[in-house]
Amino acid sequence: MNYKNDFPMLSNDIVYFDNAATSLKPMSVINKEIEYLSMYSANMKRGDYDIAFKVEDEVNKCREEIREYINAEDKNEIVFTSGATMGLNMIVFGYFKNHLKKGDEVILNKGEHASNILPWMILRKEIGIVIKYAQLDCNGFLSLDSIKKEITANTRVVSLSHITNVIGDVRDISSISSYLHGKGILFVVDASQSIAHTKVDVTLNDIDFLVFSFHKMLGSTGSGCLYGKYSLLKEMMPTIYGGGMNIDFNEEEISLMPIPYRFEAGTINIASIISFREAIKYVNKVGLNNIMITEKHLRDYLIRELSKIPYIDILNKEATSSIVLINIKGIDSSKLGLYLNSKKICTRSGVHCVKMLKDEVSFDDSVRISLYFYNTYEEIDRLIDALKEYDNIINF
Ligand SMILES: Cc1ncc(COP(=O)(O)O)c(C=O)c1O
Repeated sequence: MNYKNDFPMLSNDIVYFDNAATSLKPMSVINKEIEYLSMYSANMKRGDYDIAFKVEDEVNKCREEIREYINAEDKNEIVFTSGATMGLNMIVFGYFKNHLKKGDEVILNKGEHASNILPWMILRKEIGIVIKYAQLDCNGFLSLDSIKKEITANTRVVSLSHITNVIGDVRDISSISSYLHGKGILFVVDASQSIAHTKVDVTLNDIDFLVFSFHKMLGSTGSGCLYGKYSLLKEMMPTIYGGGMNIDFNEEEISLMPIPYRFEAGTINIASIISFREAIKYVNKVGLNNIMITEKHLRDYLIRELSKIPYIDILNKEATSSIVLINIKGIDSSKLGLYLNSKKICTRSGVHCVKMLKDEVSFDDSVRISLYFYNTYEEIDRLIDALKEYDNIINF
């Protein structure tokens, strides 16, 4: 299938292989933002007029669409955020700060994005929790067994990515969840890298909290979702206070709006939220199964072709997601990234916000090639041709 008509960026003469950073946006999403900004760009909950009601209705429809997409029980379990980073901060400082005490243990791992490590480090400073890092294997993968090794009577929560943004390994969240819940341990899942690529079912997998950003799944930047079981959201405190999240206040007291509005202080990113509904529709139209099959074929082809170039190291051959990491010995990843840029090929180089991963794997930085369903074999061929020009890379 050719997606060029739907994605204006695909008509530029570039090859976009940085989908793990952010995806491209289809016209239906772009048009929805234009429609809001040009036809009914009112605020919500703040005006007694039709277009303000319409905005509220559109936002609620998006909440319901997300509920259905991740199979949450109740649309009030869907909280709009500015993205995964904000969602994780809200979970750590709004929920766990009030439910953990000195000595309680949190299990993370060194394959996590900064946004799933740094808030916990700050909480450690504030209240004295203990952070344990489950050991990754030689491929950088995390197993349930390795999590089990860290569990003690003090373990309260495990927080991890469903798919990691560097290694691209897919964690078995179903088995991890059932094991943890057998021990009364809470489970936080960062679905930033999985939401656009595979089915994420919070009910089937019994997930306590989950976050993702819309921009990694065809949506625009600046918005995202925090899912929490209603019973946990009832126990979570807002971390941002202001308009829209309170019913009333006086000199002493604030009475909070119902869930989820108490967690959505100020003006939320209406344009991005409304248009995300179109993103979900688009993904559903293509079908998550088709997306997974297409990505697997593209990935297999990419790995096969990369393997034919003797000086390319493929660093995550065993991973199964659409992320492929490469290096060339003796060449800095940023130099390789800039060389590919000179060929109009967009990749990402460096450590990708996962700065402790180097403690556990044999490489430090890398060039990340991240695919999505609209990428093509021809684009991969262009990358391969560029990588075959060894002398040009060396001399770049
Ligand atoms: C696994 C993971 N978690 C969290 C984030 C943070 O997402 P955002 O910057 O949209 O908040 C990213 C972004 O790259 C990510 O890959």
